[in-house]
Amino acid sequence: MIRSQIIGCGAYLPETVVTNAELATRVDTSDEWIRERTGIHQRHIVKDGEKTSDLAVEASRRALRDAGVDANELDLIICATTTPDQTFPATATAIQARLGMTHGAAFDVQAVCSGFIFGMAVADNFIKTGMAKTVLLVGAETMSRLMDWNDRTTCVLFGDGAGAVVLQAHEGEGTNADRGVLNTKIYSDGRLSHLLYVDGGPSSTQTTGHLRMEGKEVFRHAVTNISASIVASAEAAGIPISEIDWFVPHQANQRILDGTARKLHIDPAKVVTTVAQHGNTSAASVPLALCTAVADGRIKRGDLVLLEAMGGGFTWGASLIRW
Ligand code: UT7
Repeated sequence: MIRSQIIGCGAYLPETVVTNAELATRVDTSDEWIRERTGIHQRHIVKDGEKTSDLAVEASRRALRDAGVDANELDLIICATTTPDQTFPATATAIQARLGMTHGAAFDVQAVCSGFIFGMAVADNFIKTGMAKTVLLVGAETMSRLMDWNDRTTCVLFGDGAGAVVLQAHEGEGTNADRGVLNTKIYSDGRLSHLLYVDGGPSSTQTTGHLRMEGKEVFRHAVTNISASIVASAEAAGIPISEIDWFVPHQANQRILDGTARKLHIDPAKVVTTVAQHGNTSAASVPLALCTAVADGRIKRGDLVLLEAMGGGFTWGASLIRW
C-alpha cells in the first residue's frame, strides 16, 4: 500500500511582531483581556508590499531543504490559503514559478482555517492514487489584510505566517505501523457560513472585504466539531485517543484547545500550542505548530501525530499521521 510520508517541514513568520499592548493603542482593548480570553500574547504581521506568496516561498524553501528535495522533483504544489496574492491566478502558481519548478501542477485549496487539513486530504489522495509521487503542501496567510482594524472583536485574534511540508510516496504494509498519513477526515456545513465570513468578494461586492465573526457561536461549534473529527480519525484507524502521542491543533484560541483536551481527556502536555506567539494564522497555523514541535524534538520518528482544524464554511477535519 502506498503511504504519504512527510519528509520535510519548513516555517516562516514575517519579521514584524505586534504585541497586545501595541494593539491596545489602536482599539479599545487590553493585553489582559486578549491573554485571558484567547491566550494570545503577540502575532507576526507582514510589512507593506509583503505578500502571502513571499511567506509561502520562504517556508517552502525551508521544507524542501529539510527534505533534501529539489523543486524540480515535485509533481504538485498545493497552497492552502484564504488570502491569495490575487483573485487569480492561484498563489500556488506564484510559488511554483519562484521555486523554479517548470513541470507538474500547482493549485490552491480554500477551506479557510481548515485549509491545511483539506490540503492533506488532497495531497494524500494524489499520492495514494499514483497521480503524484512528491507533493509540496503549503499553508500561507496574510490575515492582517482581511482585518477591519477598527473591530476589536476580530483584529486582536489573527496573524500572518506560512508553514510547508513535503509529502512523498513510500511503500507501506497497510497497517497502523506504517509511517505516513493513516487517514484524513474532512467535513463542511455551508448552513453556518454567516457565523464566520468575509463581507466582500469579486462576484458580490467587487471588493476584498473584511473578516466578520460571531465569536461565541464559532467557539461553541469549534470544540464540538474538532472533538468529533478527532474521534472519527482515531476510530477509523482503530487507535484509542490515549495512544496518540501529539495533537497539533489549529491555533485559534487557547480556550478552544483546553476545552477540546478536557472533553476528550487528552493530556494537555500532548497538545502543541503556538497561539501565544502566532495568534490565529488560519491555514498556516497547523503547519507552523507542526514545524515547531518537529524542530524542537518533541515529535519523533514513529510517533502518532494528529492534526486538526476548524474554520469558516464551516469546515473542519483531522489527519492522523505515523511520523
Ligand atoms: O479560526 C477560526 C475559528 N475562530 C475561532 O475559533 C474563534 C472562536 N471564538 C473565540 O475565540 C472567542 O469567542 C473570542 C475570543 C472571539 C471572544 O471571546 P468571548 O469570551 O466569547 O467574548 P465575547 O465575544 O462574549 O465578549 C465578551 C466581552 C464583550 O463585552 P460585553 O458585551 O460583555 O460588554 C465584548 O464586547 O468582551 C468584549 N470584547 C472585548 N473587550 C476587550 C470583545 N473583544 C474585545 C477585545 N478587548 N478585543
